[in-house]
Amino acid sequence: MASRICVTLPADSVQYDIQIADGVLQSLPSIVGQCRAVIITNPTLLTHYQERLRQLLPDATCITMQDGEQHKNLETVAHLYEGCFAAGLDRAGKVIAFGGGVVGDTAGYVAATFMRGIAFIQVPTSLLSMVDSSVGGKVGVDHPQGKNLIGAFKQPDTVLIDPTVLKTLPDREWRCGMAEVIKHGFLADPELLNLALWGKSQAAELVTRAVQVKVDVVQQDPYEATIRAHLNLGHTFGHAIEKVSEFAWPHGEAVGVGLVCAAHLSYRLNLCSASLVDTVTQVVQQVGLPTRIGDLDPQAINTAMSTDKKRKSGKLRFVVLHGVGQPAMVDDVPQATVLDVLRSLQ
Ligand SMILES: NC(=O)c1ccc[n+]([C@@H]2O[C@H](COP(=O)([O-])OP(=O)(O)OC[C@H]3O[C@@H](n4cnc5c(N)ncnc54)[C@H](O)[C@@H]3O)[C@@H](O)[C@H]2O)c1
Ligand SMILES: [Zn+2]
Repeated sequence: MASRICVTLPADSVQYDIQIADGVLQSLPSIVGQCRAVIITNPTLLTHYQERLRQLLPDATCITMQDGEQHKNLETVAHLYEGCFAAGLDRAGKVIAFGGGVVGDTAGYVAATFMRGIAFIQVPTSLLSMVDSSVGGKVGVDHPQGKNLIGAFKQPDTVLIDPTVLKTLPDREWRCGMAEVIKHGFLADPELLNLALWGKSQAAELVTRAVQVKVDVVQQDPYEATIRAHLNLGHTFGHAIEKVSEFAWPHGEAVGVGLVCAAHLSYRLNLCSASLVDTVTQVVQQVGLPTRIGDLDPQAINTAMSTDKKRKSGKLRFVVLHGVGQPAMVDDVPQATVLDVLRSLQ
């Protein structure tokens, strides 16, 4: 199965393709063309794909950043700028991100800012980055104050998704990617929640469906003025959980339990039925993601949320669900209610 989804942002005169097909990596040379290119990746990916990348792009310079969310920071960005200068990259050059969301977000920030912005190609290699972070143009890095607090909008020129690379993805990372897949399912496509349909062998179809949800949203609201914020379902809780765990909880696991928290919050605010809470909990559990916060401190999570950038004018802002396919924003959630939800999920 091969698909091509075209993302169109008329207000910015931007248009780019997302190509999804087994083996589509073969198109990388023709997409990069003759210009100078750097591939930003990490040592884990190189273990599996160094030879392949060398064959595909023999003239490109490979620059590595260390693996892990804790390296998605400005120090790494500075290191990558050095690599770009050393490679002789100029305004006509291209940055290729080959990796998961950490590489994609960091490389994208480099591409957005190096010489005020150069062309950017996303080659996402984790399920999470295929269905979520590589699409929509948000790039950036973390700051000690919180996740993704330094960033930019940088639309890629092309997104190349080759699901065959998922063969080397650890199972835990597959489950983390499924957190965003089911998030998209709860937001807009219940078929994605029919988990019996979706194994690794159906990855191309799964990714296509899940990407389509994100594309539909970002085309309507590229700069998160309105409905794009719905994509943060489970993320206000999730980001705080990541932070409080000092990133021992990976993003996808934090989002998994974040979805459960969001469902409980919706119920406590009288916005949804108890059965929706059960459905969300069951789906998260079936995917193999945590549904409780375990030994993390509810108060610490609550405090961490108050520095999240999704806070609006001093009040905590959450995405809630009225039902499957019916997200909404609420701005005035009492801290005590949030704390109750977290305590009930210990
Ligand atoms: N920009 C956005 O819109 C957006 C959206 C969602 C998430 N994000 C960000 O994405 C990041 C999480 O992305 P992630 O889950 O991909 O994490 P990640 O980039 O850390 O990748 C997870 C792990 O899998 C490894 N890996 C990736 N692809 C592999 C492959 N094919 N084979 C073997 N190993 C592979 C990585 O090296 C890493 O160890 C977070 O920083 C999050 O904030 C950004
Ligand atoms: Zn996410």
